[in-house]
Amino acid sequence: MGDYMFMLENHLSANQFRVVERMRDLAGEAGSNIFLTGGAMRDTLAGFPVRDLDFTVEGNALKLAKVAEKKLGAKLVSTDDHRKSAELLFPGGTTAEIAMARQERYTKSGARPQVIPATIHEDLRCRDFTVNAVALSLNKASLGLPIDPTNGIGDIERKELRTIHNYSFYDEPVRMLRLMRFKARLGFAIDDRTRAHFDNAREAEMLSRIASDALGDELRKMAEEPNAGDLMEALEQEQLIDLYSPALPGPKLNLAAFQKLQKARQMVQSGVEFRLHPLPLFLNVLLEKLNAKERADLLKTAGVTKAEVNASQKLDAVAKKLERDLKSAKLQKASQLYQVLMQAPGEAVLYLLLNSAQRLVLDRIKNYFQKHLPASLEITDEMVAATPGTPKFQKAKEQMILTRLDARPKKPAPAPEAVPAPPMSSFARGPSVRHAR
Ligand code: CTP
Repeated sequence: MGDYMFMLENHLSANQFRVVERMRDLAGEAGSNIFLTGGAMRDTLAGFPVRDLDFTVEGNALKLAKVAEKKLGAKLVSTDDHRKSAELLFPGGTTAEIAMARQERYTKSGARPQVIPATIHEDLRCRDFTVNAVALSLNKASLGLPIDPTNGIGDIERKELRTIHNYSFYDEPVRMLRLMRFKARLGFAIDDRTRAHFDNAREAEMLSRIASDALGDELRKMAEEPNAGDLMEALEQEQLIDLYSPALPGPKLNLAAFQKLQKARQMVQSGVEFRLHPLPLFLNVLLEKLNAKERADLLKTAGVTKAEVNASQKLDAVAKKLERDLKSAKLQKASQLYQVLMQAPGEAVLYLLLNSAQRLVLDRIKNYFQKHLPASLEITDEMVAATPGTPKFQKAKEQMILTRLDARPKKPAPAPEAVPAPPMSSFARGPSVRHAR
């Protein structure tokens, strides 16, 4: 049992693990059972970086979220009163969802289900795929006990995506899109019966029942995918991209740009601080080749908000300004470049990697990703003489990083023919991006 807690401590970032411990304590004080579930467990067990923590509570999750806001300084980002869940942003940047353990009863495909409080076992059995239905107890009497009623751990080991029940795609047809997203993200195979359920649901025209807000939520999730190129290819192959726009399949879907975006995101090493709002850049690439009417139709179909559209339209100007800053001859020290890029929106940095024709700018960004950000990890929290999570701590840590960057000896320049400039495709695989919401 202890092994799973040990695995968690090793896999999560220090900040994420601290949040797990604090939430365990808060739930304990409130007398509620709390579990780590969903994507957080799946990604930990499969060895992928965890983006958000998912907690499930047997009891009042919204109340617990409020206590976390008050006692842990978390920011309540959103609440869903129907599903009884809340999204929280903790000091230090960890994001988490806290949801009530629930059963969902569907009266109509794609419609809002009836939500009933449930035990953790009942909750897990209602979920979409077995790999998403593993929980880890954080409760005193059973700390570290895995709860796995559908053998999700076995499927993670076999690298297979399997629906939990035959009606999964009928209950929530948006799961057909989720299946492709997890396939692209995890590189898992789709089990044969699940594929047959998928085909049957398509035959029964379930795709037309995906509600507009579900399509929009899924588009936002797609934008977060590091493997955007693989995902868009899969969606085109499966004729699912048509759901967003009948104009997209074919030459108007810029798959090469999505692959470039995927490679750019793979440059960001796991564990480093990189603030990214992925939607504006994703929309930029998605809409690039569509005409004005096709763009407007797509944005309406997916319920993209005005603010989201504005952010995407402004990206070009924000990136151009960053490009000018990055060309400056004043950026002599590594710490100066680090500071400019740390403060820049991540989406503008990646936009330049995709679109800039300036060699100097591209080289500086690559240096930042390949040298400076990894070097910043050499300064660990333990080395900072301040309380983690406080502004004083942040400041002290940043200062130590800047000093370390400028103190690093420069490697002598290699003979030009010995080390050719690496092609985009040769950058390390498997990293993640830490998102700010
Ligand atoms: N879930 C589901 N059916 C859906 C949406 C979600 O069964 N249509 C369940 C899954 O068990 C999922 C959990 O709710 O793991 C949380 O959903 P979500 O946050 O959307 O996904 P994650 O699995 O956490 O994946 P991601 O990494 O994309 O956030």
